[in-house]
Amino acid sequence: MLSFDRVAHLSDANAGPGLLSGAVPLDPSAALLTDRVAVVTGSAIGIGEAIALAFARFGAHVAICDRDVENLDGTADGIEAAGRRVVAAELDVRDEDACREFVHTVRDELGGVDVLVNNAGGGFFADFVDVNAKGQDALVRENFGSVTNFVRPVVAAMGERGGSIVNLTSIEAHRAAPGYAVYSAMKAAVTSLTMSLALELGPRLIRVNCIAPDVIPTPGVGPVGVHTPLPVAGHVDDVAACAVFLASDLSRFVTGTTIHVDGGNLAAGGWHRRSDGQYVTHAP
Ligand SMILES: NC(=O)c1ccc[n+]([C@@H]2O[C@H](COP(=O)([O-])OP(=O)(O)OC[C@H]3O[C@@H](n4cnc5c(N)ncnc54)[C@H](O)[C@@H]3O)[C@@H](O)[C@H]2O)c1
Repeated sequence: MLSFDRVAHLSDANAGPGLLSGAVPLDPSAALLTDRVAVVTGSAIGIGEAIALAFARFGAHVAICDRDVENLDGTADGIEAAGRRVVAAELDVRDEDACREFVHTVRDELGGVDVLVNNAGGGFFADFVDVNAKGQDALVRENFGSVTNFVRPVVAAMGERGGSIVNLTSIEAHRAAPGYAVYSAMKAAVTSLTMSLALELGPRLIRVNCIAPDVIPTPGVGPVGVHTPLPVAGHVDDVAACAVFLASDLSRFVTGTTIHVDGGNLAAGGWHRRSDGQYVTHAP
């Protein structure tokens, strides 16, 4: 049984807007993002599009950006169809000035930022020794600079009620990735950055977490086979569901960690599921 002092302390700590009160039982409204402002990068197609549309369906106003302006229009239409406000911009997430300017526009037009999803990223297949300095620099800016370019202005735009930052990393941040060595090293760097930021920004009620997907069919990744421990195909909405959780008050005590949306692949390690359901340590 809680003493009165303890109850008072809990409700003080939970008093900020946008947080669960602690005084009422958990209910489904905690999953909603009603009138929150969310920024989702790389939201023209794939996982970013799915997250932006899910956020709108859960009540958020959504700011979207991408270098693929044609498909970004389709995402903007979807957000408006859900009855939410949208701010959209064509930009390259490697361009620090463009990212800062976009965040300032979002702050001015939508009144601040509550949620940031650093989704844009990608790489190309090449042996490490064949990647020249220019290629390496592009991969660093695409997968690491893209995150820091947004974190700094967004943290400044988050108010006293804090917020949530979600970084899309990869299963490759947690294992070897032959042919994608620099990409995976940068995803591991984002994982590390996430933990440090969780500590630095925790006192400001800003939570910072990662989602590490694997084998989610998208235009970038293409079709993928079903060899996961869960014998079902992954879907972009599986990632969007995690993003909604991490953006919402359901996860208000979750920071500095990674949720793996990979059908069990990281847990499988070197184990492979055969079609008869048995596991073997050599490829079937
Ligand atoms: N799909 C998967 O299974 C998987 C696995 C591991 C990690 N991820 C990560 O999830 C994120 C999304 O992956 P996806 O499969 O949806 O990718 P995708 O290639 O299908 O879509 C990426 C989107 O980001 C945009 N983008 C990329 N670089 C950009 C830049 N420099 N400036 C502006 N826009 C840019 C693209 O135009 C596109 O709209 C990425 O960070 C990726 O590394 C995905």
